[in-house]
Amino acid sequence: MSMIVRRLSRAATAGLVAAAALTAAAHSAEAADTLGSAAAGQGRYFGTAVAASHLGESDYAATLDREFSSVTPENEMKWDATEPSRGSFTFTSADRIVDHAQSQGMDVRGHTLVWHSQLPSWVSPLGAQDLRTAMNAHINGLMGHYKGEIHSWDVVNEAFQDGGSGARRSSPFQDKLGDGFIEEAFRTARAADPAAKLCYNDYNTDGVNAKSNAVYDMVKDFKSRGVPIDCVGFQSHFNSNSPVPSDYRHNLQRFADLGVDVQITELDIEGSGSAQAADYTKVVEACLAVSRCTGMTVWGVTDKYSWRSGGTPLLFDGDYNEKPAYGAVLSALGGSGGPGDPGDPGDPGDGASCTATYTRTADWSSGYNGQVTITAGAEPISSWTATVTLPAQQSVSSLWNGTPTWSGNVMTVRPSWNGPLAAGASTSFGFTAAKNGSDAAPTVGTCTAS
Ligand code: XIL
Repeated sequence: MSMIVRRLSRAATAGLVAAAALTAAAHSAEAADTLGSAAAGQGRYFGTAVAASHLGESDYAATLDREFSSVTPENEMKWDATEPSRGSFTFTSADRIVDHAQSQGMDVRGHTLVWHSQLPSWVSPLGAQDLRTAMNAHINGLMGHYKGEIHSWDVVNEAFQDGGSGARRSSPFQDKLGDGFIEEAFRTARAADPAAKLCYNDYNTDGVNAKSNAVYDMVKDFKSRGVPIDCVGFQSHFNSNSPVPSDYRHNLQRFADLGVDVQITELDIEGSGSAQAADYTKVVEACLAVSRCTGMTVWGVTDKYSWRSGGTPLLFDGDYNEKPAYGAVLSALGGSGGPGDPGDPGDPGDGASCTATYTRTADWSSGYNGQVTITAGAEPISSWTATVTLPAQQSVSSLWNGTPTWSGNVMTVRPSWNGPLAAGASTSFGFTAAKNGSDAAPTVGTCTAS
């Protein structure tokens, strides 16, 4: 009953949604100096995953509202969050995100309806018939509540196994309902909200491999039999073990050639500096080269809240400074006003830049001394901030010529006395670390100057 009341009240805000969309359109006609407006200039959306719990943090909300044109609730629309016990739907956190997005003229991606993970415990013991009923009721409950408000839904997430086989992944749905559960979910979804694009979403399908071939065959089969599917989502979580594939664009294109849209749905690339920026450029260029690649979503606003925070995989650092990857994405999207450009709204100081390099200056069996050298770019700077990520076991016992703050194993260092630097000049800070069994080197992230 409460669900029906809520559904009516969401529909009643439809006029507000239309007004907000107009604001967004007006905004995108201005200079393309944000990710969302630059992407709009290319006919694409640029989105981010959002957590309801961070919306109250002013820097988080300001960065979100300024830069992005689409949001995906990071966890709030998952089965465990929305139907924790059978038939009783809770939309409070998801509604917060959707309401926030609409008030800012941003679109919303729905994530995700049928997935083996983040499932409440009542689902897996169900018998086949009951599970089928519960799956369809869940799809109807979610899609009914947000009918007309979601541009694309991840109807089924991660249904294929990793590795070389191309087989289906074991899950309550696969094990009890068989291969047909996916098409049943898509048919139910089409009826529930005919306006939403229906997507199949997965990871390690970004290049041509056994897993993406299996998804490809499924989509081809769906298209030939008239099973409703509109898009394929490529999560695109990249790191050194799983780098941006060289055939990424080719893979996106072959899916598009089946007659579906493609979307990059959960992009993050671990790393820092120019190497990370170059990888982001590859991804954006691949999407722009495929006319049916309708948009990209990064999996979070800031490194500090990333599900892979140790890998600093996002476009803004823990202080919401733009990283080199941000500038790379913005310019690949044809925008202007990245770091260093005059008037860039997120820039700490126009023209100010710095680099940070690490060396080990002393080494003994249980510890070492590290030194990070900060060098100003082409203009003088008044201050700098550098991040250093330590291997999990290690701990820092002292630090000199800098002031550290900590978030997990990420140390953010600001100057103690040595902030101002002439153009091209350097200073350094040092620290002593205990190895605690790990001799690995720390990673120096971005240097930000003002
Ligand atoms: C992740 C979230 O980012 C985490 O906060 C949560 O603890 C686990 O799920 N593939 C997906 C996303 O489809 O839903 C996952 O999100 C990341 C991998």
